[in-house]
Parts: sequence; C-alpha cells; structure tokens
Amino acid sequence: MRQIDMGIARKWAYEMHAALLEEGDTAVDATMGNGHDTAALCRLVGESGRVWAFDVQPEALGSTRALLEREGLERRAELILAGHERMAQYVPGGVRLVVFNLGWLPGVEHAVTTRAETTLAAVDQALGLLCPGGLMTVCVYPGHEEGARELRELLDWAAALDPLRYDAIVRRYLNQPADPPVLIAVRRAERARKARK
Ligand SMILES: C[S@@+](CC[C@H](N)C(=O)[O-])C[C@H]1O[C@@H](n2cnc3c(N)ncnc32)[C@H](O)[C@@H]1O
Repeated sequence: MRQIDMGIARKWAYEMHAALLEEGDTAVDATMGNGHDTAALCRLVGESGRVWAFDVQPEALGSTRALLEREGLERRAELILAGHERMAQYVPGGVRLVVFNLGWLPGVEHAVTTRAETTLAAVDQALGLLCPGGLMTVCVYPGHEEGARELRELLDWAAALDPLRYDAIVRRYLNQPADPPVLIAVRRAERARKARK
C-alpha cells in the first residue's frame, strides 16, 4: 500500500531548491552552520554556479570548508565570516535562491542563535538580491523562545509583502506537540503585476 511521507520543514525547503536551481545559478546560504545546506546548494548550481555562505562563527566556516573539500565542491562556494544582515555588502544581485535555516549550530558548546532583529534585516536584504522568479526559504524553529519570536515577526513581515511583487507562503504542522519547524517561502514575481480593481 502507498504511504505519504508528510516530511519536515528542511525537506520541504530542499524540494523547492531542487526544483528551482539549475547549472550556473547563484544561491546564498544565509546560515552556513556545519555546511550541509551549502554543500547541497553547491551540488544543485553545478560547476559553473556560485554559492555565497554566511555565518558568524569561525567553527562554522571550518566545518563547512572541510565538508566541501571532502566532496570536491570548494571551488563553487564563497564562505564569509559575517552576519547575514550584511549580505548585501558582499553579494552582487541576480541571486536565484536565498536559504535560511535559523537557530543554532549543533554541537557547539556556547550556542549562538539567530535573532529576530538581525533575521528581519537579513530577509529584507535577501529579497533585494533576488532575480525575477527568485525564491527565499526560511526554516524557523519555534520550539525555543527566540525561535518563537522569530516566527511571529517573520509571519507579520511576510504577510505585509506587496502582493504585486511577491508570493509568500507558510507550511507547518497544525497538531503536533513540541512546535515542529515551520517553512516560510517568498517568491519574487517574474514581472511586475497590475493591481486588480
Ligand atoms: C541551524 S544552524 C544552520 C545549519 C546549516 N545550514 C547546516 O546545514 O548545517 C544556524 C546557524 O546560524 C548561524 N548564525 C547565527 N546568527 C547569524 C547571523 N547573524 N548571520 C549568519 N549566521 C548566523 C549560527 O552560528 C548557526 O551556525
């Protein structure tokens, strides 16, 4: 008998990334962490693509560099030790995908978590970098206090986006305990739409 796997937020996000990215695209990993998302994006953009990855912790750059080297992907990525709220200073426009996986780096003793203020500044910048038809995905973890605040503020922010320029969606479990992660995705329209009268 067939079964449906209901999946989790990171998987929903990855399915969108894989459906969108093509050889030669530019993508941003706004929360590099241990580099799993950076590596996946490097595979999807191919030899001629580029991935810009950000984190505030040197440990994140170290483990991501090691992972990319093991997989032969290091030439496709630019690893930057800076907060994602500064991404517009580093990344030229024309970005097809920006990926956020919020929260903290697993396995590091003093957890440095993403914070609502800087996350909001970063998602604003991310939209400014997207090419027409480009996408931003944000995995949010409301099971801890700061994550719950990030989710509330991101939902308000996304709901207020101009519908002529963006489509914003949310995907989440409605009935599961322990506040599972939530996916927010925003797509920039291909071309300017006209307001309906
Ligand atoms: C859940 S982890 C990311 C996991 C990662 N994408 C992976 O595949 O392993 C979140 C990361 O965000 C980083 N972070 C926290 N504040 C940040 C900021 N302002 N800018 C960029 N990264 C930040 C943390 O250091 C942590 O490594």
